[in-house]
Amino acid sequence: MQVTVIGAGYVGLATGVMLAFLGHRVQVVDHNPEIVAALQKGRRTIYEYGLENMLQQAADNLTFTSTLGDVGVAEVVMIAVGTPSREDGATDLGFVEKALLEVAGHCQGPPYPLIINKSTVPPGTACWAQTLVNGSLTGRGFVPGVAVVSNPEFLREGSALFDALYPDRIVLGAREESSFATLRELYQPLLSQQFTPPAYLPRPQDYTGPALVQTDPVTTELIKYASNAFLSVKISFINEFAALAELLGADIAQIARGMGLDQRIGEKFLRAGLGWGGSCFGKDTSAITQVAKKYDSRLSIVEAAIGVNHKQKKIAVTKLQAALGTIPGSIVGILGLAFKPDTDDVRDTPATAVIRELQDLGAFIKVYDPMAMDNYRKQHAGLKVVYCASLEELAAGCDALILMTEWEQFKKADWQKIGQRMQRKIIVDGRNLLDPKEMQSLGFDYRGVGRRTAILSCSVAVTGGGP
Ligand code: UDX
Ligand code: UDX
Repeated sequence: MQVTVIGAGYVGLATGVMLAFLGHRVQVVDHNPEIVAALQKGRRTIYEYGLENMLQQAADNLTFTSTLGDVGVAEVVMIAVGTPSREDGATDLGFVEKALLEVAGHCQGPPYPLIINKSTVPPGTACWAQTLVNGSLTGRGFVPGVAVVSNPEFLREGSALFDALYPDRIVLGAREESSFATLRELYQPLLSQQFTPPAYLPRPQDYTGPALVQTDPVTTELIKYASNAFLSVKISFINEFAALAELLGADIAQIARGMGLDQRIGEKFLRAGLGWGGSCFGKDTSAITQVAKKYDSRLSIVEAAIGVNHKQKKIAVTKLQAALGTIPGSIVGILGLAFKPDTDDVRDTPATAVIRELQDLGAFIKVYDPMAMDNYRKQHAGLKVVYCASLEELAAGCDALILMTEWEQFKKADWQKIGQRMQRKIIVDGRNLLDPKEMQSLGFDYRGVGRRTAILSCSVAVTGGGP
């Protein structure tokens, strides 16, 4: 099929390249000429596993441009532009509206392309968008007839191409059977899994293809918010239990394992740490709680998860305070700026909240990340931190370290050497990445999140009574 994708961000680019790999002819449009120029030269603009390879493999089916041009040839136009939060937490639909009107402005009468919205948008947006586009067409003297459907993405950054090729489910929200038929045709290679997997992204052995959910657009838009909100709640839940576990001398990793083995709960998204970040969870949870309020309703569990996440970032400072005694004047090294490993994305990264709070208290901050330093520098130009080129450089002279991102490189590091370069060997492991016993044996004052660091000896109760 002929596909136009508007927006070459994490979602638009991964989806566009995947569709081209599957054999569709894809034009990716982005209003940023620098992004387009780089992609035209075959250079990736974001770090995403397998992207460079797939860009090359799909090159014959892919074009990049900064102006929309004739959309008459496209059978589907996919919208994947940013949907940032407004000051009050609600969604700013400005880019989506601009893209829709641009598409409408380029239509020259039927047959019209199917407009697929991939960006995360408030429930009701597809219906609103359809009226908007058809209104614009009628205004220009054309017959209306454009359908706008909802088809949210569930791509994790860092494994976006894997998630795109082997999704758990494909969720389609439309009002007409003809729209569903077009969407099924678009995703046929994924539904049937009749493509040769790339060597760098093999198909998981037990994977048999995605489930297909076909429903109305409002339900679909809510599925996206409910999914991200639920994952956020799951993480905040385990983080609250981590605090309790710590008080009781229990271990949160073992609690999560013990819970997760129950298939009704599931083991995923139960890793305690210094809170969730990234471009989606914060934005989507605040957007959907705002939507509920607009309709005189409340999503109190999601609101609580947001509150817990806010507090969670502060525990790094509390732990440091307890270990250091005095924070003002201390030198603190931050290991990891990306909001999670295997990505260079620093949007809403918990590291920023921790850095700002420590600076407010008078600490001096050094930072290191294997991949996200350039992005961080660009997005936090005014922030006074010392950027270090290696872990060793970061550790030199530090009173304490805070591990913010669970990069494999940090796990494999030579911690003896790193410790030797520090003034005081204190580490707050905000992602429970390192082995507490090993760190303690190297002389570190090690503090994890909800982790037991001392050997627990349980006395055997002889007479009655209980905790
Ligand atoms: C975006 C949405 O923000 C998110 O809500 C949704 O779930 C998926 O799509 P992402 O791909 O991470 O997520 O966005 P971003 O990295 O900001 O990329 C958006 C791209 O669209 C940028 O490259 C930007 O230059 C481009 N864009 C934006 C346009 O081409 N035209 C516009 O009018 C606005
Ligand atoms: C998320 C959703 O997973 C994806 O489906 C959606 O389309 C976009 O938003 P992403 O933001 O790329 O994807 O990251 P994800 O892997 O979900 O992690 C989000 C945050 O949660 C990260 O900061 C991560 O460190 C944190 N996290 C995740 C935890 O703290 N504990 C966990 O157990 C899992």
